[in-house]
Amino acid sequence: MTYYIQQFRSPRGCLSYIVSDTERKEALIIDPSVEVNTEEYINYLKDNELILRFIIETHTHADHISSAQKVKAETEAKILQHKNSASSLKDRALNEETLMLGDTEVQFLYTPGHTDDCICIRIGNAVFTGDTLLIGGTGRTDFQNGSSQDLYNSIWKKLMVLSDSTKVYPAHNYKNQINSTIGYERAHNPRLALSHDEFVTTMDAHHPQKPDLFDTAVAENSK
Ligand SMILES: [Fe+2]
Repeated sequence: MTYYIQQFRSPRGCLSYIVSDTERKEALIIDPSVEVNTEEYINYLKDNELILRFIIETHTHADHISSAQKVKAETEAKILQHKNSASSLKDRALNEETLMLGDTEVQFLYTPGHTDDCICIRIGNAVFTGDTLLIGGTGRTDFQNGSSQDLYNSIWKKLMVLSDSTKVYPAHNYKNQINSTIGYERAHNPRLALSHDEFVTTMDAHHPQKPDLFDTAVAENSK
């Protein structure tokens, strides 16, 4: 199994990824955003002679508009989202399950908390954590059926059980960091230093400003 991860960063720090099975030349895209020119994704696929199989949303995004439909229009790929997502445009509703991308196993972990339709995606020694686990932080829990309790359990029961060397690729980063590891986050992420009760109290009281595009993004991404 040989896979390659290409990260795409929007000017506002939204991260999307194309992961490819380099031998079988099949690919999937995670969290495509209109803030990245769709041609950039398509050109990357063409340049590397990749067939896009899956378009995966880690959750219904509230801060940017997905380009899943645009990418789908130019490829043969199917849109995959957790079954709790409100969108009727998904081709497959995910639960905890495993799919194959060429010879590469793609494992979906249900990780509610930031929203109730959050998934993380484990591929080899990498995990794509959406807004469940960020570099040095976690997603907020105060809208879209979020739950601080669920987020705590998702992080500790689904992510922190992975090996310390597992690379962490989040959906956002505003500091130009590329990735992290489970071990680094366990040691340095301040939210992971909190006990269960401290975490729940802290997150329940955490109400940062709503994202600029909140109303438009949620409505558009829930179609
Ligand atoms: Fe989010």
